[in-house]
Amino acid sequence: MCNEKPVRYTSGYQTRTIVHKSVRPKSTEECKLIANQETGTRVDEVASEIYRICTPLNVIPGGFTVNSYLVADEEPLLFHTGYKKLFPITLEAIGKVMPVKKLRWIGGSHFEGDEFGALNDFLGAAPEATPFGAEIGVLTSLNDFATRPARGFVDGEEFYIGSRRMKWLYTPHVPHGWDCGILFDQSTRTLFCGDLFTQPGANMPPVTESEVLTASEGMREMMDYYAHATSTTAILERLAGLCPSTLACQHGSAYRGDGVALLRELAATLEKGKGTLSTPPLAVAA
Ligand SMILES: [Fe+2]
Ligand SMILES: [Fe+2]
Repeated sequence: MCNEKPVRYTSGYQTRTIVHKSVRPKSTEECKLIANQETGTRVDEVASEIYRICTPLNVIPGGFTVNSYLVADEEPLLFHTGYKKLFPITLEAIGKVMPVKKLRWIGGSHFEGDEFGALNDFLGAAPEATPFGAEIGVLTSLNDFATRPARGFVDGEEFYIGSRRMKWLYTPHVPHGWDCGILFDQSTRTLFCGDLFTQPGANMPPVTESEVLTASEGMREMMDYYAHATSTTAILERLAGLCPSTLACQHGSAYRGDGVALLRELAATLEKGKGTLSTPPLAVAA
């Protein structure tokens, strides 16, 4: 159980007005680093020594963001490499925090271009880094793609990267991908939740304390990127059981607040709308 205030349910995402409450940095160390003026790539510390590297992209109307997360510890970990084409940009951004060659772990939620596209470039730049993902992802994709053998984690497996104990949760098809998994930093209660709560837009605050479900539901209606799996509710409840206080989304702002309530509200929203979409998905409409 979480050692926090009781879980708060909100009244339905459709009716709420979003006013982003950006979280102000506490110190100069937490202030943003503009890593690349040309691309707008920036680096922000979103939890203790967890850096969000964000590059805005003009791939959908209104823009989109791709985030990699760098966890600075004795064995630094990168979660999501970003697209291969972004490699020089992401590399430059990591270099603002630490030498890239110090990376020891490079992984991602599931095997797609934005999660793993630049993996081999990073393995070249960080010769002691081990690629990682779900066991099934290693079997189906990673060990074929990667230039070095990958480590496949089983559901619930924990590993230390120095002072932090990380936990891997296998979340097949949530939101998509047979190989999908989620990483949790138990020391800061940060859930690296991959494509869950994907928000559109290019100019997002790095961290928000405003709920991100409304924006991500708008994205889901536009793209239908969930796999319509039967186990979704149970998996989201399992993630809620971790009591996350930061949701490190791969697309959009990171969310700081009652992660339990937000995950449960997502589950309830998906349950309520099972089998329906208010508008045809973009790929279908195109
Ligand atoms: Fe994805
Ligand atoms: Fe993604």
